Amino acid sequence: MRRSGVLYVQQVAVALGVLLFAGTGSVLAQDLTEETYGPMMAEVRLLVGDVSQHIDNRYWPELGEDLDKMFPIFRRMEAFWTARGNDGAVALVGDGIAALREIGQAGVAMEVAPAQAGLTNLRAVCGSCHEAHREADGDGFKIKAGS
Ligand code: HEC
Repeated sequence: MRRSGVLYVQQVAVALGVLLFAGTGSVLAQDLTEETYGPMMAEVRLLVGDVSQHIDNRYWPELGEDLDKMFPIFRRMEAFWTARGNDGAVALVGDGIAALREIGQAGVAMEVAPAQAGLTNLRAVCGSCHEAHREADGDGFKIKAGS
């Protein structure tokens, strides 16, 4: 079931993925650094909004496209925190990936309530990581000192 969910997501948005990775100028296509982390997070926030709307409207193929963008971003986040040796943040990213899979499986099954439950889990991960590894920086945010 888990495997088929991921496959579905990949199949739905193959064409889109090609476009995404062709644009090397895009924030989504870059390796993460401290400078690109914040802009990438802003993209993630927009994508979470898309995910929420697409679940509510039962736009399952579009939900698949959203997830096809989210999975590679989370993989980059995983690589970023792994390189920093921050096991706690790596584990949180893993929880986020699990939540994305949950949403993907619900999308395959075309079931709103489990998809919303997955989104709630995803948002909890956002909050936990911000609590642990983010701090205010003037008007915006930065990676917490020591994280
Ligand atoms: C593994 C940790 C981690 C996870 C998971 C995470 N974030 Fe973040 N987020 C951060 C850190 C660290 C910052 C501060 C970095 C910065 O802004 O330069 C940040 C900043 C942000 C910002 C502010 C960006 C800005 O303008 O500076 C937004 C918006 C955001 N995150 C959204 C999300 C959403 C939505 C999720 C969940 C889908 C999420 N984040 C998951 C660590 C995380």
